[in-house]
Amino acid sequence: MIVTTSLEPSAETVQHAEELSESFRLPLIERRDYSLHELRKKYAQNEILIVSSAGARLEAEGKKPFFFHPNTAAFRIKRLERGDTDTMLAVCQIQPGDQVLDATMGLGADAIILAYGVGAKGRVIGIESERIIGLLVEDGLRHWSTDSAALHDAMQRVEVRVANHFDVLKSMPADSIDVIYFDPMFEETVQSSVGIAGIREWANNHALKEETIAEALRVARRRVVLKEGKAGGLYRQFGFTPYRTRGKQVVYSYKEKGGGE
Ligand SMILES: C[S@@+](CC[C@H](N)C(=O)[O-])C[C@H]1O[C@@H](n2cnc3c(N)ncnc32)[C@H](O)[C@@H]1O
Repeated sequence: MIVTTSLEPSAETVQHAEELSESFRLPLIERRDYSLHELRKKYAQNEILIVSSAGARLEAEGKKPFFFHPNTAAFRIKRLERGDTDTMLAVCQIQPGDQVLDATMGLGADAIILAYGVGAKGRVIGIESERIIGLLVEDGLRHWSTDSAALHDAMQRVEVRVANHFDVLKSMPADSIDVIYFDPMFEETVQSSVGIAGIREWANNHALKEETIAEALRVARRRVVLKEGKAGGLYRQFGFTPYRTRGKQVVYSYKEKGGGE
């Protein structure tokens, strides 16, 4: 993989590309007037990280481009600001000041909403196993420009960790995080948004393991929450309680610490 810029980049874009090449530990190639096709041939690399004024975008022949955007978080925050509720926040029973672990961060939309919910005194750690996703999302959270102060502040509050969630949970003390949230990849593309479709080819598609849920239940102080597609049966497998499933494409379920509902 190589890093380059858009054609005729501004000084700011060049600086952003330099930062990314350093954090990704990847060579930075001056774009000059090369086409992406020419760069691929010249450097014998299929994957190119292109930095422009709009942010960073990962392109590879045969795959959908991957780039950060707040996805559903933008309109969900607008709705929350109008006083509406958000189902995920409700299932998680998020309160201001909570410490939350989003164990499958992906594009970070849910992590952003969790960060909005916990507020300035709370904490949200987003774990993503795939380095490219984790680093691009962390970069996007810091660079995305928005007129919404609430969205901006929530994005700044998400702490990104590139790691396997099982390893992170294993290393944490018991009863140290209020809520732990899982949204693993699932077959149906009900999360329909372009964003999640774009992540699929770069994401970790492994099934959620029983031992990971056991670790999450050890580390959680209050509850562990799971999101899956309607056709999935993970909540039954793990003994979780479904939350208002009727007619919904997405099923949320939860398990209270101590095994109650
Ligand atoms: C469906 S996406 C999550 C979408 C996210 N909730 C959002 O709002 O954008 C699932 C993500 O979890 C990541 N993932 C899967 N298994 C993981 C693991 N064992 N540890 C950490 N991340 C994992 C995948 O790479 C993928 O990016």
